Amino acid sequence: MGGMTTSKPTNVPSVTLNDGTEMPQIGLGTWNLTGDDGARIIRDAIAMGYRHIDTASIYHNEEEVGRAIREAIAAGDVTREELFVTSKLWNDDQGEDRVPAAFQESLHRLGLEYLDLYLVHWPAPSLGKYLESYEAIARLQGLGVIQSIGVSNFYEEVLQELIDATGTAPAVNQVELHPGFSQAPLRQVHEELGILTGAWSPLGRGAILQDPVLDAVARDVGKTTAQVALRWEMQLGCSVIPKSTNRERLGKILEVTDFTLNSDQMAAISSLDEAEGFGRIFDDPRTYPSED
Ligand code: A2P
Repeated sequence: MGGMTTSKPTNVPSVTLNDGTEMPQIGLGTWNLTGDDGARIIRDAIAMGYRHIDTASIYHNEEEVGRAIREAIAAGDVTREELFVTSKLWNDDQGEDRVPAAFQESLHRLGLEYLDLYLVHWPAPSLGKYLESYEAIARLQGLGVIQSIGVSNFYEEVLQELIDATGTAPAVNQVELHPGFSQAPLRQVHEELGILTGAWSPLGRGAILQDPVLDAVARDVGKTTAQVALRWEMQLGCSVIPKSTNRERLGKILEVTDFTLNSDQMAAISSLDEAEGFGRIFDDPRTYPSED
C-alpha cells in the first residue's frame, strides 16, 4: 500500500454500551464505498485513525471492507482487537430460519471470525419478523461470534416490544439523525432504556452543510460546518458514522475532539428542527418498506 502506511494513534473517545463494550464514538460510514476505490478509502481511513467501520449486507461492500481490514492488519497499523466492525441484517434475510446463514455470509465476505456489532437493519413492520430476527441474532451472540447486538431504524413501540419479549435492551439503535432532525423524543426513550443512539447520515448527506446557523457556529469555533454537526451529535451523546470520498475531509472529520460547543451553540443547532426545509430526509421506518 503506497503512501499512508503509518497509522496515527486515535484520540476518538469511546462510549460504553449497555453490555459493557467500548465503542469508538466516531465510525466510518461505508455506504457507497465499493470496488477498489472504496477498499482504498477504507484502508486509508484506518491509517488516518478510524477504528470503527460500519457496513451492511445491503451496501454490497463487505468484501472491500474485509480486504481493507486485512491490509491494515498486515501492514501493522492495527490489530483486529483494536477495530470495531459493525454489519447489518438485510430485510430479505429476516426470519429465524434465514438469520444464521445471512450472518455467516456477511462474516465470510468480511473474512472475519467475529463482529463487534450486528444490527437488524430495519424493523420492516410489514414483514412482521423483526422480533424473531433479533432473537436469532441474540442466539448467535450466545455462540460468541457477535460481541454486541442492536437494531437500526427502530421506533419506540418496536423497541418496547423487543425489550418486553427478551428482557434486555439492544445495545444500539442506529437512526437517521442530523442537524434539522435531532430525534429528541426517540433519544429520550433511548436514554430511559439504556440504548445508545447511533446517528446515521450525520451530515444530512451534505445538504445541510451550507446552513447559515451552522455556518455562524462554525465561524465562532474556527471549524467547518461538518465538524460542528458531528460535534453537536457527539455532545448529544450519539455515536456518528460520517462518510466522505475525499481524504482531506475524511481526516478533518476526526478533528472534532479538540473543541466544545457551548449551550447556546448547542441550542441554536437543535432549533433547526423547527426550521423550514429540515426534517427527515430518508424513509420513515414505520412505513418502510411499503407493502406493495
Ligand atoms: P464527499 O464524499 O464529497 O466528501 P452523510 O454521512 O450524512 O450521509 O453525508 C455524506 C456526504 O457528506 C457525502 O456526500 C460527503 O461528500 C459529504 N461531506 C462529508 N464531509 C464533508 C465536508 N467536510 N464538507 C462537505 N461535505 C462533506
